[in-house]
Amino acid sequence: MTVTFQLNGEGCRFDGDPMTPLVDILRHERFLTGTKAVCREGFCGACTVHVDDEAVPSCLKPVGLVHGCAVTTIEGLSSGNQPLHPVQAAFEAADAVQCGMCFPGMVMSFSAFVRDNPHASRPEIKAAMVGNICRCTGYERIVDAVAECLDQARKAGQLVGGIHV
Ligand code: FES
Ligand code: FES
Repeated sequence: MTVTFQLNGEGCRFDGDPMTPLVDILRHERFLTGTKAVCREGFCGACTVHVDDEAVPSCLKPVGLVHGCAVTTIEGLSSGNQPLHPVQAAFEAADAVQCGMCFPGMVMSFSAFVRDNPHASRPEIKAAMVGNICRCTGYERIVDAVAECLDQARKAGQLVGGIHV
């Protein structure tokens, strides 16, 4: 089967088994290794990407189901001249990364979260982390980073319709 979709803004074609997990296409055929394959069971969130702006675990997404969709990975998250998405910048500023294995998935999950929940409270940020595991257990700093990202956006008046880059 031929599957076509947009990948980080460019056309992408895959010829093969439509049940192939999207994460394997991203990593092994497109060499977008920012997307991590860790548990492969939908528990850890390390493989999170956006499919039509929704954060999804790419290990559970057969490539056939993204036919005609727009897929964004951590490599394609920022746009234009902006080097970092505000969530990425906030993680860096908060020193919220240790080994880095969870980082791309966290950023992809929380970039969708802050867009959809621009007024989220700290408990809501913590609750949103349920789908992403950090083996280094740096959760507090990650929550700090997301809270600070939202705070900065509020101060800058960027919360109309959520944070966009
Ligand atoms: S590798 Fe996909 S959720 Fe863990
Ligand atoms: S920083 Fe190591 S798994 Fe999260």
